Amino acid sequence: MDPWTLAYEGFDPNEEGLREALCTLGNGRFATRGAAPEAEVDEVHYPGTYIAGCYDRLVSSVAGYDVTNEDMVNAPNWLPLTFATPGSGWFSPRTTDLLEYRQELDLRHAILRRLIRFRDEDGRITVVRQRRLVSMADPQLAALETTFTAENWSGPLLVRAALDGRVTNSGVPRYRDLRGDHLTAHATGADGDILWLRARTRSSAVVIALAARVEAGSPGHEVERDPEMIAREHTLELVRGRPTLVVKTVALVTSRDHAVAGPSETAVRRVRLAPGFEPLLERHRLAWVGLWGRARLDVDAPKAQRNVRLNVFHVLQTLSPHTADLDVGVPARGLHGEAYRGHVFWDELFVLPWLNLRFPEIARGLLRYRWRRLPEARAAASAVGLSGAMFPWQSGGDGREETQSLHLNPRSGRWLPDHSRLQRHVGLAIAYNVWQHYLVTGDLEFLADFGAELLIEIARFFASMARLDPGSGRYEIHGVMGPDEYHDAYPGAALPGLDNNAYTNVMTVWLLLRAEETLRLLPRRSYEELVARLGLDATETERWEDITRGMRVDFHDGVISQFTGYSGLLELDWARYRGVRRLDRELEAEGDSVNRYQASKQADVLMLFYLLTSKELEEILDRLGYRTEPGMILRTVHYYLARTCHGSTLSAVVHGWVLARCDRSGSWQFFTETLTADVIDVQGGTTAEGVHLGAMAGTLDLLQRCYLGLEIRHDGLHLNPLLPDRLAGLSLRIRYRGAELSIRADSGEIRIGRADDGPDTVAVTVHGRSTRLGRRESRAFPLPDETLPAAECL
Ligand code: BGC
Repeated sequence: MDPWTLAYEGFDPNEEGLREALCTLGNGRFATRGAAPEAEVDEVHYPGTYIAGCYDRLVSSVAGYDVTNEDMVNAPNWLPLTFATPGSGWFSPRTTDLLEYRQELDLRHAILRRLIRFRDEDGRITVVRQRRLVSMADPQLAALETTFTAENWSGPLLVRAALDGRVTNSGVPRYRDLRGDHLTAHATGADGDILWLRARTRSSAVVIALAARVEAGSPGHEVERDPEMIAREHTLELVRGRPTLVVKTVALVTSRDHAVAGPSETAVRRVRLAPGFEPLLERHRLAWVGLWGRARLDVDAPKAQRNVRLNVFHVLQTLSPHTADLDVGVPARGLHGEAYRGHVFWDELFVLPWLNLRFPEIARGLLRYRWRRLPEARAAASAVGLSGAMFPWQSGGDGREETQSLHLNPRSGRWLPDHSRLQRHVGLAIAYNVWQHYLVTGDLEFLADFGAELLIEIARFFASMARLDPGSGRYEIHGVMGPDEYHDAYPGAALPGLDNNAYTNVMTVWLLLRAEETLRLLPRRSYEELVARLGLDATETERWEDITRGMRVDFHDGVISQFTGYSGLLELDWARYRGVRRLDRELEAEGDSVNRYQASKQADVLMLFYLLTSKELEEILDRLGYRTEPGMILRTVHYYLARTCHGSTLSAVVHGWVLARCDRSGSWQFFTETLTADVIDVQGGTTAEGVHLGAMAGTLDLLQRCYLGLEIRHDGLHLNPLLPDRLAGLSLRIRYRGAELSIRADSGEIRIGRADDGPDTVAVTVHGRSTRLGRRESRAFPLPDETLPAAECL
């Protein structure tokens, strides 16, 4: 397998949606699915283009209710380009006699190539080669180059190029009862050889403009123009054996962009000034060379390498250095499709740790997206009588709660109440990322600027949710959901929500400790200013302190209970449901409810072992007055592992992580499952609706932080590698507090080198031995040949 190429042979209508998602090209500002340019939307093709942060809200009527949904808008389609040999209809891979068909994504240079060799009804054989890019260097530009070669004939070939604004959001079948007509006020026009199209989103009033320059050897003539669509046709005189080129260069500009006069005017100017395909490609290629240099992550596991790169590639296409300049968060499904409506969940918890160590500026931009939405989060907390900031489970344009109130179970056809907004733990993920970002960068200015405010307002919210139970003297948090979405209520309860979700409660303690630490770290002036601005007083911080010593955590059978009462739930007949990932849908369709069973969609309690070291967790439990029984962690891992069906791709990341030190082959199995989750569409149909960005980045983070045992502490970088047997070695480059470190680990040694002019020395501890690494210095550390006893593995 070529480690830089994702290739598909032959045309397969059943696979086209998946290929479109996986061959998406993007630059962190916008992305376009890898759809065939000649295809219109139908049950096989879905040519979507999505602009980071461009949302629109519509009201639909379903099941007798008015429901409001905000979607990441499918922008007008810039791709259309089709062709016809004399006397034949327009080319279509489904109806034309295909002699060869190959589609290839070049990950190194972010180019999508296509080769088509076809025969028309009169026996003419034509070869079509296409190269497509969405520029990483010029983030408003994209281009499609098509080369036609008549193999056994000469004569005219008709080429039709268009801009199409007749698109809607209709890429996800189960949302089709909801409105998706987000674009209005369409207009089209031509300015010399340049075509343009403009539309506006209905409620957010974002103007989106496309302009296209088509170089086809002749100006062509307009064949269609209505407000929603503009098309020109060009006749190419093909000469047998001689390649003839058509280049369509496109600018996409919105009213949200910087440096824009009017979107359509600016789009026309941008495309007029755009260079030809080769120079455009060269700049794009160089931008990617730079990105790959920073993102290098090489694994000595040939089968895994290509998919590792595919994950890096899609993460960077969604979140690039251009993103840092925008006001956007981490869309759970990338800019690759319409699932989850482009919303931002807690998935950034799995994404930022990887970015922090390579592209801290992108991570900071994403944290700023949250910080800018603090007013909305404060209002949400105060509306339910709490203080601080309550971030929404699903966030979009302005930071209000975007979670739908009803969702469709496609198995039963029923619309059901959706309580997933009770996943308050999203705030914990944001705070965890703030803290990690600070640890990696060591940047107090970041904390003083906005990091501390974000973390403290979240801490306040969680503290205000905690209520003292006078009977037990313990603090409790009621009415929430943990990450496991299969439990949203007690069986038969009138109200949704669960009490004392262990993940939420323990991480609240962790957060309050970090909040206290953050206040201590802040420079005096910033501290005073922040405390005054937030009205934070000693009574409040004393209460925090109290909570960190008195929070309730439940246990049963020597393991941590997912929530109070969990142990009283029934055991599921796993033999019957083995392999069913969407147990919630399955059981609901059978008239039952997954709430009745000890069955989880994804890691919940185990998230604690994912985010905290065993030492940190034990310290917290100890502080709360709970004794950690020997083997408790391992028992808990196995308990929940046996009761989880991995209905979320995030689950395998967490399980791969928590097994890394006690079951190396089990860990590797989860790692490979999550690594290939999108490529083989492990959930059977979901990838076509967008990649799973959290799992993609989480896999990369698993390699770096988990298998390298990389921990960032106040006193420097700590490494404690333990590679799975199947992973012979690992090489990567990270950025840590202004220094660039290249790390190479195999089973025998770890070598760490610096090639930067950053800080004089960097503190590194390998297997407990500390050293300081100077500029341009490189050091090898032998690794002890040891297998940790299972009981101490976490
Ligand atoms: C998972 C959530 C996740 C969301 C978006 C859901 O299926 O249960 O944890 O945040 O997908 O990726």
